[in-house]
Amino acid sequence: MVKSLLILCVLTVALGGYTQIFNDNFANLNNWVADTMPGADSGNNEWEYYTARSVNVYTTGNSLVLHAQKESYQGYNYTSGKVHSAKQWGPYGFFNVKALVPKGNGLWPAIWLLPYGGSNVYGTWAACGEIDIMETICTQEQAYSTLHFGGPWPANTQYPWPPNNQYPFNVDWSVPHYFGVEWQPTFMNFWFDASIVNGVVQGTKILSVPSSQWYSQNSSGQKYPGNAPFNVPTNIILNVAVGGSWPCSVSGCCSNVAVPASMIVYNVQIWEETQ
Ligand SMILES: *[C@@H]1O[C@H](CO)[C@@H](O)[C@H](O)[C@H]1NC(C)=O
Ligand SMILES: *[C@@H]1O[C@H](CO)[C@@H](O)[C@H](O)[C@H]1NC(C)=O
Repeated sequence: MVKSLLILCVLTVALGGYTQIFNDNFANLNNWVADTMPGADSGNNEWEYYTARSVNVYTTGNSLVLHAQKESYQGYNYTSGKVHSAKQWGPYGFFNVKALVPKGNGLWPAIWLLPYGGSNVYGTWAACGEIDIMETICTQEQAYSTLHFGGPWPANTQYPWPPNNQYPFNVDWSVPHYFGVEWQPTFMNFWFDASIVNGVVQGTKILSVPSSQWYSQNSSGQKYPGNAPFNVPTNIILNVAVGGSWPCSVSGCCSNVAVPASMIVYNVQIWEETQ
């Protein structure tokens, strides 16, 4: 009896556990594409121009640096770095990113998932779905985790709404942290400083969102079946925005922009559940 129970437990872990399928320590940028994009294209009135130049996006041999600086460029006053994964990943799995995140006025660093180009089989944003693993603005000590979905803009919506998308504690931003999402058909769990131990996620769970909270609909308002839009592959995106509607809506946040500033990304891992 004890023996068969033990075997059952071992089987459960082996069958349900996470296995690593991607692990990038940024020896090079081969798994990523640096975007060239004016901040206006973000839809957020951002102040930076993203360039693929080595001053804004570079690797050091063991990390990726996304560097924001003050500079006149193509009519903009700041340049910065933004990359998307060369491949699409998912659906589902544990996505975990280790980064040293810059804080200061006007800064809006982010680690997120969005199909490249902001559109997929379900249509344009936010019908295509966006998973914001971690965002933080200006000098605020909290981070935020949010899902965007619904219909194509302006019929988009999100979950949770502020302040419920906010970490319930202050983050020590002076050291690198892991920011993760456990993406499953029936839920989305956001994690802080988590890792996979014996096939399961262990760490600080920030937030759990059941799939009943999200949906996708077309421009006629017709909802797609199942757990759309979070049931198709997507891209990983890493960037440091300067300015933009959200940070600049906070009093004092966008004065004396704290550049130069860099987000240093040390590791991106993806784990898939063994079937
Ligand atoms: C650059 O700065 C100038 C002067 O403050 C401002 O008028 C202009 O709108 C800024 N450009 C952008 C793209 O933010
Ligand atoms: C939305 O979906 C419904 C049901 O499938 C379909 O009849 C309608 O034509 C679709 N509308 C658009 C704009 O795609």
